[in-house]
Amino acid sequence: MKILGLAGAVFHDAAAALVIDGEVIAAAEEERFTRDKHAKGQFPLHAARWCLEYAGIDPQALDAIAFPYAPISIASAARWHYAKRYWYAPDRALDALFHGNRRFYRNKTRALQLLTDLGGNPDRTVFIPVEHHLAHASSAYHLSPFDQQEKVAILSIDGKGEYATTFFGYSENGKIIKLKEFYDPDSLGGLYSAITEYLGFEMLDGEFKVMGMAPYGDPNKYDLTRLLECRDGQLKVNTKLVNTVGFRRYKERGKGYYFSPALIAWLGKRREGDEIDEPYIHYAASVQQLLETTVLELVNYYLGDIIRETGKLCFAGGVALNVKLNQRLLELPDLQQLFVPPAANDAGTALGAATYAAYQAGDTVKPLQHAYLGPEFSNEDCIAACESHPQRPIWQQCRNSITSAVDILTAGNPLAWFQGRMEFGPRALGGRSILGDPSQTGIADKINLQIKYREKWRPFCPSMLDSIAPDILQSQHPAPYMTITFPVAQAWKTRIPEVVHADGTARAQVVTAATNPRYYALLQALEAKTGQGVLLNTSLNRRGEPMVCSPTDALNMFYSCDLQYLLMQDILVTK
Ligand SMILES: [Fe+2]
Repeated sequence: MKILGLAGAVFHDAAAALVIDGEVIAAAEEERFTRDKHAKGQFPLHAARWCLEYAGIDPQALDAIAFPYAPISIASAARWHYAKRYWYAPDRALDALFHGNRRFYRNKTRALQLLTDLGGNPDRTVFIPVEHHLAHASSAYHLSPFDQQEKVAILSIDGKGEYATTFFGYSENGKIIKLKEFYDPDSLGGLYSAITEYLGFEMLDGEFKVMGMAPYGDPNKYDLTRLLECRDGQLKVNTKLVNTVGFRRYKERGKGYYFSPALIAWLGKRREGDEIDEPYIHYAASVQQLLETTVLELVNYYLGDIIRETGKLCFAGGVALNVKLNQRLLELPDLQQLFVPPAANDAGTALGAATYAAYQAGDTVKPLQHAYLGPEFSNEDCIAACESHPQRPIWQQCRNSITSAVDILTAGNPLAWFQGRMEFGPRALGGRSILGDPSQTGIADKINLQIKYREKWRPFCPSMLDSIAPDILQSQHPAPYMTITFPVAQAWKTRIPEVVHADGTARAQVVTAATNPRYYALLQALEAKTGQGVLLNTSLNRRGEPMVCSPTDALNMFYSCDLQYLLMQDILVTK
């Protein structure tokens, strides 16, 4: 089966993925092509076109379009729960009951139009809707390294799909079995995003900042537990404070927020600015703790038996990008292995819908080998981009680009590193990265100064050789996608201080020779010169912009910041 998965069902993170006979061939976010962060309100036309071109597939030959958004029956508890909990906003409540699939039909029309725009044939290609959380679940489970014959616990948590916000399930011979769902407005992702807005950050990116701010605060200084009720396996969010709509919303300068004036009356005015300040750092710490304890309690309630039996958990949905929560999950005594895919957010539902449809059609879905699923460019492409760039770049072709890169890094410079296929998912994994040598004191400040794109208190993360990762992280657990934090061994904290967070942890990427040979070679060469195969790795973009995709994007970014070195494949550009 040739299946094209499309994300963009919930107005952000549009993406496309191509799965052929159960194998992931290509996947990319729409924002990387249009240069419009999160591609809000967009459908993934550019990403889909690129996926098909990359694979050499005629759009007319597609067997199916898989879409991570499905119609929900009026007989489902979801719509009735929604209507009951939104009684204070009767227009919404009635809409859920009488026109509860309006958004689905709108999405379907847009998806079929996209197929037509690609040059496809809607009469030949089947449209397969997949429930949003089943798509998240499939992106975690079907692509996991786990044997499909064994039972595995499955968890998905996000803001909201159709109506569901949280999914607990397990696998049985490759099939995903649903155990329990919670529905809007009882959303942990929604609650975290509402507090993100209150703390002065934007939804979709700000959640990482709240998580990064949390270690600076005391989670017990302010009690935020009244934001939700969680007991006996039930979850109820306090919509008088957060996850609010309509007249309950707090409004400021004409903009409505997902929290209420009652929250402001309780906690004080909404935070503004780039500094970490009181009392907000303590609120960040408290909401992070509330998320962790609630998820752990619910996981224990619904999945505890399965985890005790199998020791394995797959986790996706936007909340699965909360790396601190993932660390807490992995610390559960019975959990041996946790798999969080690189695109656990909504972009990953393109892949999840496609793998779910592939499984349903009888294909054997092959485990994900790496996250390098996007476009790649040759030296000739990079030279052509330099030649046609208005800034007239000074470039040279390196005889040994690894040696050149190590020389630049060990001289204390940040290096923009562009090589191979672009990563799928929000984390730079050595395809489109800004790198630094973390043994150089002040390298983090230098990157902040040259790029000026992030709050200075936010931590940077390390990529490291698989040979030394167990020593640094005190764990043999795989960490290919920067989706989990680990406590850093005492002896290493002073060796790589620039990539250790305030709480002594690091969101690590463990690099293997098989998945990224060139990046691995760089780490090995750095180890040979400095004694440690660790790099500071942050994404190649400026604040508020999507990660770089093409050589021209890289050059545009390079000339709009103070970075001095850009290495694209073997082409070194300097200022
Ligand atoms: Fe989602």
